Amino acid sequence: MISVENLVKCFGNITAVNDISFEVDEGSIFGFLGPNGAGKTTTISMLCTLLSPTSGKAFINGFDCSKESAKVRKAIGIVFQDSTLDKELTAYENLMFHAFLYDVKKDERAQRVGDALHFVNLHERRNDLVKKFSGGMKRRLEVARGLIHRPKVLFLDEPTLGLDPQTRTNLWEFIIDLPRKHGMTIFMTTHYMEEAEVCDRIAIIDKGKIMTIGTPEELKKTIGGDVIYIKTTDNKEAKTEIEKLFQIEVSEKNNELFLTALKGDACIPEIIRAIGEKVLSVRLQRPTLNDVFLKMTGREIRSEDISSGDTIKEAVRSYRRHFDRG
Ligand SMILES: Nc1ncnc2c1ncn2[C@@H]1O[C@H](COP(=O)(O)OP(=O)(O)OP(=O)(O)O)[C@@H](O)[C@H]1O
Ligand SMILES: [Mg+2]
Repeated sequence: MISVENLVKCFGNITAVNDISFEVDEGSIFGFLGPNGAGKTTTISMLCTLLSPTSGKAFINGFDCSKESAKVRKAIGIVFQDSTLDKELTAYENLMFHAFLYDVKKDERAQRVGDALHFVNLHERRNDLVKKFSGGMKRRLEVARGLIHRPKVLFLDEPTLGLDPQTRTNLWEFIIDLPRKHGMTIFMTTHYMEEAEVCDRIAIIDKGKIMTIGTPEELKKTIGGDVIYIKTTDNKEAKTEIEKLFQIEVSEKNNELFLTALKGDACIPEIIRAIGEKVLSVRLQRPTLNDVFLKMTGREIRSEDISSGDTIKEAVRSYRRHFDRG
């Protein structure tokens, strides 16, 4: 459904997107995970035809994003990080306006808008002004708006940024349903690791380059197994004994020994048998996407990596400029 070949975008001497290639299957959820300035929004902007690539090609539903922008735009919906709703209109009016912009037939508009409002559980609030909505309700309304023209691909740029955990979970329940119920393809960016877990495939992007790509399970396997942490009464001796037992190197950090093992749960009984009398505690940690991220980029995703939204605001401005004309 999405095909990207050697895509490059330079801004002056900054290479924001540096020769990336990937494919996204129809009806799947694809995630872009990357730190601040990695090139996520720039990639989305090129796929959404808001920016033209410096070189390379991108296709959506078989249409060339550079040469067939009108067809691409009909095939996609976009949910930007910053709200682009009109706060002085009601939820219903916002969606009806969007249906009008997208040439949804006049006699179909009310039905489509009603369906979308039901889908995100906002039908009862349809006649309220958006300025009276909570952050989570606004996000849901934006997702609903992105669905009005029944796009084949929905782009979500950090869709749950700044929402509380419960609202994030609720929103994800709606989003995950889209491929299942409507065969829609989803391309999203996030810096929340647990959200990246819902993706069928993930690309980790850093400094404009795709570092790795695969299913969450495949990526976690590259870490090389589980990590076992052991506290003992005598770390020095325990370290030597465990190293002898498994013929691997054991490290120490914060007064705790740790080692990586393919099947961590099977190793623990052996450790206890060998040095049981010295063991104070043992814990097992399965690899997380955060570990993968750390390994690939040398950094952890932290709150300061969260987008300031400036580039998104620019993208929203150009989105508005386009659709205000249309
Ligand atoms: N219009 C622009 N002009 C100049 N440089 C830009 C422009 N848009 C983006 N960049 C630069 O391109 C790089 C990638 O930016 P981009 O917005 O794509 O990152 P991102 O992965 O979306 O980051 P974030 O997590 O902060 O949203 C950054 O170095 C940014 O400064
Ligand atoms: Mg961004």
